[in-house]
Amino acid sequence: MAKVNDNYLKLPGSYLFSTVARKVREFQEANPDKQVIKLSIGDVTQPLAPAIIESLHKAVDEMGKAETFRGYAPDLGYEFLRKTIAEKDYKPKGCNVSADEIFISDGAKSDSANIQEIFSLDNKIAVGDPVYPVYVDSNVMAGRTGTYDKVKETWSDVIYMPCLAENNFVPEIPKEVPDLIYLCFPNNPTGATIKKAQLQEWVDYANKVGAVIIYDAAYEAYISEADVPHSIYECEGARTCAIELRSFSKNAGFTGVRLGFTVVPKDLMVDGVALHGLWARRHGTKYNGAPYIIQRAGEAVYSDAGQAQLREQVAYYMKNAAYIYNGLKEAGYSVSGGVNAPYVWLRTPGNMTSWEFFDYLLEKANVVGTPGSGFGPSGEHYFRVNAFGSYENTVEAIRRIKAL
Ligand code: MLT
Repeated sequence: MAKVNDNYLKLPGSYLFSTVARKVREFQEANPDKQVIKLSIGDVTQPLAPAIIESLHKAVDEMGKAETFRGYAPDLGYEFLRKTIAEKDYKPKGCNVSADEIFISDGAKSDSANIQEIFSLDNKIAVGDPVYPVYVDSNVMAGRTGTYDKVKETWSDVIYMPCLAENNFVPEIPKEVPDLIYLCFPNNPTGATIKKAQLQEWVDYANKVGAVIIYDAAYEAYISEADVPHSIYECEGARTCAIELRSFSKNAGFTGVRLGFTVVPKDLMVDGVALHGLWARRHGTKYNGAPYIIQRAGEAVYSDAGQAQLREQVAYYMKNAAYIYNGLKEAGYSVSGGVNAPYVWLRTPGNMTSWEFFDYLLEKANVVGTPGSGFGPSGEHYFRVNAFGSYENTVEAIRRIKAL
């Protein structure tokens, strides 16, 4: 008789952004005349840059001719894209990452959920709290997180590293030694960043205790300050302890196009086994490669025209971020983030819970953000507003919030 993976039954509630979407849908059904502004899920709104569209068209045409048609993509990614990434993303930052250490995928969400598969179920994970929910949920599904405490909203076998105003929302090295450490900088959801010297401490620590860091750098394009690392491989020794996840969603607007990559250095060994080989084996078995058309679009991200257009796009969203940050501050909110990340993190007023504030904003201002508690217990009494809306909607949302 078939049995289900009962780890799935342990998952509390639905995926955070599904719950948000359901609540917004219900509100809109009940209030069809209200113009709701959505600044919740970090989905981009600007169209794809012209250089990317041009490349997509060209690749589509190639698929229509026998001489240039392509079938299955190489499961680890096309050489043209892997080489371009190594050359344009890593080399200029002084990072020693070669093309064959880059694995192309359909995005960082899937990679961040799948990467845990190559590790033993005995590994103990450490996560920042609040945290992008996929890291924890994917480990729950695998059966690595123990039992759930409904009151505390924590898992018994997960090490939570609180990210609070007191530590500038940067986690501190935990007392209990973890095996896998998830770090995300610039951070989702808090918008906080880490300085290079602080990240170096994590790398040194991981090398010392034999832990692996899973470093999510999906928002690196939003870094505006000089001493903030774009890649963990800017730190000495990262090749022997870190995997890096990258996305084209936020830097190039690929949320609906889907493309990302993971770097697994060949020097990264666990128990004498190279993780590079394991991840390659997983890719080979479970994935047929990102589509040719999309990988060509990814290549165009690195062209001179693509780079110039995308710098403008990022600047557009960061103008929104500054508008949100300053507007909320003027309205008396305690805010952070928004300088090196497209997320502004605010303390809820009057000690409202995160979900109370969500309902309040939705009902009174018809503005949707994301409740901080959905990212973990230390997110309670916090709220995330993203900068990915249009400028006009962003201005209107802040006007409405200020008027409350
Ligand atoms: C978010 O809003 O946290 C992200 O957009 C979700 C994602 O990238 O999957």
